[in-house]
Amino acid sequence: MLFLKKKMPSPKKSYSRITTKTLQEMKANGEKISMLTAYDYTFGGIVDKAGIDVILVGDSASNVMAGHETTLPITLDQMIYHASGVVRSVKRAFVIVDLPFGTYQADSKEALRSAIRIMKESGAHGVKLEGGLQVKESIERILKAGIPVMGHLGLTPQSIYKFGTYTVRAKEEEEAVQLLKDTQMLEQLGCFGIVLEKVPSALAGQAAQSIKVPIIGIGAGNKVDGQVLVLHDMLGMNKDFSPRFLRRYLDLNQILQKAISKYSRDVKSMDFPNDNEQY
Ligand code: KIV
Repeated sequence: MLFLKKKMPSPKKSYSRITTKTLQEMKANGEKISMLTAYDYTFGGIVDKAGIDVILVGDSASNVMAGHETTLPITLDQMIYHASGVVRSVKRAFVIVDLPFGTYQADSKEALRSAIRIMKESGAHGVKLEGGLQVKESIERILKAGIPVMGHLGLTPQSIYKFGTYTVRAKEEEEAVQLLKDTQMLEQLGCFGIVLEKVPSALAGQAAQSIKVPIIGIGAGNKVDGQVLVLHDMLGMNKDFSPRFLRRYLDLNQILQKAISKYSRDVKSMDFPNDNEQY
C-alpha cells in the first residue's frame, strides 16, 4: 500500500519579532499567519512560546473569562487589565486588543481616546474594531495617531442583536458585494489586516485575493492568509460551543476536572500532603 505523505509547507523565513511589516511580508510570501486569543499572563506566555504569530486579546473575554452571553458587556478597563497581563508575557508575537462595544462607535474622537488608553495602559501593539463604512472616521483618526488598526468584517459579534443570530454571513449577493467593498476600503484606509468571521470560503478567498494586507479567517475557510481561534474553544475548555469551523486540539475541560477531583480526593483521604510535602 502506498502512503502519500501530506506536504507540510515550512515557514519561508523565521521572524524573531512579529510586526505589521512582517505580517505583510508573510502574506506576500504565501506563508500562513497563525493567530490565537489569550487573556492573561500565563496563557499569553504559553501561546507566544508556542510560536503563534499574532495574539488577540479579544472581547470574547466577555464570554470565556466573565461568562456573559455576548461580547457587549466587557468594558475598556477590563480589556486593558486582560491585555496588560498578556503583553507582559510576550516576546515575539504581535499583540492586538479589541476595542470593546461602545468605545468607538459614537464618534471618532472617543474612538481615538479609547485606542490611546489601550496602547498606553496595556503596552499592546495595535487595536481591532468591528465594522466597515460605519466606523470609517474612527479608523482614520486612530490610524492618523500612529496606532495600527485591524478591521473585522463578516459576523461581527458586537452587532449580534442587529443580526439576531450567529449564522454564516454574506451568503446573499448584496451582503457579499458590500463585504468586498468594505474589505478594499479598510485596506485603502491603512488597516494592516482584517479578521473575516463566518463567511463562505469562496467569498473569503476572493476578498483575500483582492487586497495586499492579510485576511485572517475564523470560520472563513482555507483560502485566506491565516486563521484565528478562541483559545478556550480550541483547547476544549468549554463544552457548550461546537460550531462546524472549530477544531478541538485537547479536551482540557476533562483533563482539568480529573486532576482537580484527584486533588480533592487526596486531601480528604489525607494522602496530600505526605511527609515530603511538608516542613
Ligand atoms: O473576540 C474575539 O475573540 C474575536 C475573534 C473571534 C476573532 O474577535
